[in-house]
Amino acid sequence: MQTALTRLLGIQHPLICPGMSYIATPELVAAVGNAGGLGILASGPLSAEQTRAAIRRIRQLSDKPFGVGCTLMMPGAAENAEVALQEQVPVINFSLGKGDWIVKRAHAYGGKAIATVVTEKHARSAEKSGADALLVTGHEAAAHGGEVTSLVLVPAIRQACSLPLIAAGGFADGNGLLAALALGADGVAMGSRLAMTRESPVHATTKEMIRERGVGDTLYSRNFDGLWCRVMDSPAARRATRKPLGLFAASWQASQAARKMGMPVGKVVLGGVLKQPQALRQLAQFGAATEAIRLAIQDGDHQRGVQLIGQAQGLIDDVPSVAELFERILRQAADCRQRLQGVF
Ligand SMILES: Cc1cc2nc3c(=O)[nH]c(=O)nc-3n(C[C@H](O)[C@H](O)[C@H](O)COP(=O)(O)O)c2cc1C
Repeated sequence: MQTALTRLLGIQHPLICPGMSYIATPELVAAVGNAGGLGILASGPLSAEQTRAAIRRIRQLSDKPFGVGCTLMMPGAAENAEVALQEQVPVINFSLGKGDWIVKRAHAYGGKAIATVVTEKHARSAEKSGADALLVTGHEAAAHGGEVTSLVLVPAIRQACSLPLIAAGGFADGNGLLAALALGADGVAMGSRLAMTRESPVHATTKEMIRERGVGDTLYSRNFDGLWCRVMDSPAARRATRKPLGLFAASWQASQAARKMGMPVGKVVLGGVLKQPQALRQLAQFGAATEAIRLAIQDGDHQRGVQLIGQAQGLIDDVPSVAELFERILRQAADCRQRLQGVF
């Protein structure tokens, strides 16, 4: 299957593994690349040196193109992007911030930049900044999907700009891939689906919980990390989203998380004081949420942990290898196309 996206990125299939904290590790990123898609390393919980080591590890495991994801609002993200640029990573995906400088620097060595967007306004501004493609995240998505569902957001952004589009949010099989292409996308990113593969480091307990949950078993709240965010419905998630975290509690939890991640506590918690209190609150909430996310993914702890997951969890009931999954998706898409031909 060849699209504007596969040609742009030099990949075989229009299938992307988006940046997912603690999940899109070098092993999963390399497995996706080796299976013909593009994996994007999640640099959110990594220090600059860990990001450099992860990039080098991917290169040991695969000679295929790959990306590094940088959530620019997170502490340490600009430093991680700097490392990715120094290492001349083929693709850099930036979200939640202005990435003009990343686009310029990536282009200087022949790299590509993908901007994550959730509105038409973001899409137009990313196109103007020189981004090569857009990752369009609809409401169904795990974590920070937009207000509008993929079914409406993807065609709206298709009308608003002419860049290759990657549809994300709610895509988990070949029928979804074909639907995304029909809506005007050039490929899909599948987070929840790829989190449920053998190469994904998600704890076995958590994988079993995802397998059992339905499409309606998620919460979409602004109280977890300060932005609108989709998580798995669980007693811990209900507690975590009941009300916004107070500034004091958020700062305390963020400092604990920063310590565990080897980040300077002052930078995470107090760094925002010089900006506005709102920025400090946001930084602190990110820090606090990071530890809850880690507990669910790495330890399978759902007493204190909170799992980011999309509505597509209800479409997932097995744990194949990435290569098996991609073969199946492409077969389903071909079958779906044939079935539709019979309709006309
Ligand atoms: C377990 C999990 C962890 C994720 N972690 C992050 C993250 O750290 N940062 C981020 O911007 N998006 C994160 N995402 C969201 C993905 O990048 C992507 O936007 C989303 O998974 C797409 O929707 P889908 O789950 O319906 O495929 C995560 C998604 C999942 C499933």
